[in-house]
Amino acid sequence: MPAALPHPALTAGHVFIAASMDGYIARRDGAIDFLDPYTEDHGYDAFMAGVDGLIMGRATFELVMTFPGWPFTKPVVVLSRSLAPGALPQTLAGKVRILDGTPREVMRDLYKDGWRNAYVDGGKVIQSFLRDGLIGDLIVTRVPILLGDGIPLFGPLASDVALRHIETKTFASGLVQSKYEIRG
Ligand SMILES: NC(=O)c1ccc[n+]([C@@H]2O[C@H](COP(=O)([O-])OP(=O)(O)OC[C@H]3O[C@@H](n4cnc5c(N)ncnc54)[C@H](OP(=O)(O)O)[C@@H]3O)[C@@H](O)[C@H]2O)c1
Repeated sequence: MPAALPHPALTAGHVFIAASMDGYIARRDGAIDFLDPYTEDHGYDAFMAGVDGLIMGRATFELVMTFPGWPFTKPVVVLSRSLAPGALPQTLAGKVRILDGTPREVMRDLYKDGWRNAYVDGGKVIQSFLRDGLIGDLIVTRVPILLGDGIPLFGPLASDVALRHIETKTFASGLVQSKYEIRG
């Protein structure tokens, strides 16, 4: 996994996410139905192979829980200040744990657990990890649709985050996928 971060004792965060042309990762109600037509392989498995596990926000976890089965084979950390650990169904024992530290604390603790690279998922979570300098690279897949409103991928920053464009791939379906490294 490229784009090592300048912090030797912190897990590096990596983003792999789909967004509408106007920058939304979900409709306002959390629905991601606009992704349904895009079933082609756009690199998800290869990306997943390069991470030790996933860190996701509580809202993203709640969406995943509506899927017919648990879709991840790697360990998942759910960030939440409202979910009690006992709220997890027994079927997720050993697969999911709930943490509520700051992004830096989470990356420090996961590093101690042996994680070197984590998939960071969920709009608010990505934004907070970006603000704290914990994301090494972003792969954003643009979906050819305008939603007009929704849950944004990006949000306010304390200062600019400069990006280095690595590559852009286009897919027959109209998906356009760009990879950026954070310039550090
Ligand atoms: N298009 C895509 O590829 C894609 C990918 C992933 C998700 N999504 C969509 O994105 C939506 C969710 O994104 P979102 O921005 O609304 O939320 P999110 O980032 O998934 O979750 C936000 C929640 O995470 C918890 N949280 C965040 N940082 C925390 C921290 N440091 N410590 C403890 N808890 C923390 C808080 O939960 P508490 O309130 O419990 O404290 C917060 O409300 C879903 O609708 C999903 O469908 C789309």
